[in-house]
Amino acid sequence: MRAVTFSQLGGPEVLEASDLPVPQPGAGEVRIRVKAATVNPTDISFRSGRQLTLAQLAEMNVRPPFVPGMELAGVVDAVGGGTSWRVGDRVMAIVNPRRPGGGAQAEQVVVPAASVARVPEGTSLEAAATLPMNGLTVRLALDRLALKPGQTLGVTGAAGAVGGYAVELGVSEGLRVIAVARSQDQALVNRFGAKTFIASGDSAIRAVYDAAPGGVDGLIDAAVLDAAALPAIRDGGKLATVRGFAGPSERGITIEPVRVTSYVENHEALDRLGRLVAEGRLTLRVAETFPPERAAEAQRKMAAGGTRGRLVIVF
Ligand SMILES: NC(=O)c1ccc[n+]([C@@H]2O[C@H](COP(=O)([O-])OP(=O)(O)OC[C@H]3O[C@@H](n4cnc5c(N)ncnc54)[C@H](OP(=O)(O)O)[C@@H]3O)[C@@H](O)[C@H]2O)c1
Repeated sequence: MRAVTFSQLGGPEVLEASDLPVPQPGAGEVRIRVKAATVNPTDISFRSGRQLTLAQLAEMNVRPPFVPGMELAGVVDAVGGGTSWRVGDRVMAIVNPRRPGGGAQAEQVVVPAASVARVPEGTSLEAAATLPMNGLTVRLALDRLALKPGQTLGVTGAAGAVGGYAVELGVSEGLRVIAVARSQDQALVNRFGAKTFIASGDSAIRAVYDAAPGGVDGLIDAAVLDAAALPAIRDGGKLATVRGFAGPSERGITIEPVRVTSYVENHEALDRLGRLVAEGRLTLRVAETFPPERAAEAQRKMAAGGTRGRLVIVF
């Protein structure tokens, strides 16, 4: 089966399309004939070695060739024992690529049954592939922030994958969302339902504080401003970070570093996200599709910034 692979850590040029053995599902697992798998910032971290060295990966029994990718959609083509999934089901799934079985950017991928949910009615597999990882990231962030309807949620990077879902999920939970994104993204972010739009830049964080007013109750920092986002938050509020920033904090603000790998088998949460898509409350965005042979080009494009919607590898 075809897969995007890399055998050394480095620049996008280490990526190639290779043929790998077809994996077999064990008990409690399903195999998916993948149609679409997205490209995300985490794939760049994995490939470049920014997070883990070869030695650290080997300690986790993760050895080359590595397969990137954290989310996919396709059709179940084999099942292990003890699952209710059936061959032919249209599904989407989240997968941690730093595991011996590799990631999502392969023609056939085996995952635990709990990592899978049905593709929402009327949704293409390319679009469905954009939901699991970033949708669950936002679910986890909102669970950690534990805001109540009527409270204020700040979102930085609101035009991106995490940020867009953060605005829409926040709105669907009755939060007053104050969204920060580049000025050219205002119309897009307003369509997501943000109550207030603030153009990113030097005065943006102060403007969030004033718009709340007195600081937001919680903030999801998809633009990775880290400590620079703290002044937007009220005394005793909460900050959800996505790249490991854990402090120091100030004014009694709790910092919640979010790692979606802890929700990788949260079937109920993924299923609920799919239902929100079916209800028109979450917007799935595909920017462009690429065959596995052009994975390096897709990663370069992602790294350059400015892409709205996800880049998707199709098989
Ligand atoms: N911890 C986890 O479990 C987890 C899970 C998912 C994602 N993440 C992380 O979350 C972050 C966001 O991911 P994503 O997929 O949403 O990325 P994305 O789609 O590229 O969105 C990021 C958005 O933030 C904007 N942005 C970035 N830096 C900015 C700055 N300094 N000022 C203003 N705007 C800025 C970008 O604008 P431009 O494109 O114009 O630069 C883009 O609109 C990434 O760092 C990713 O690694 C973490």
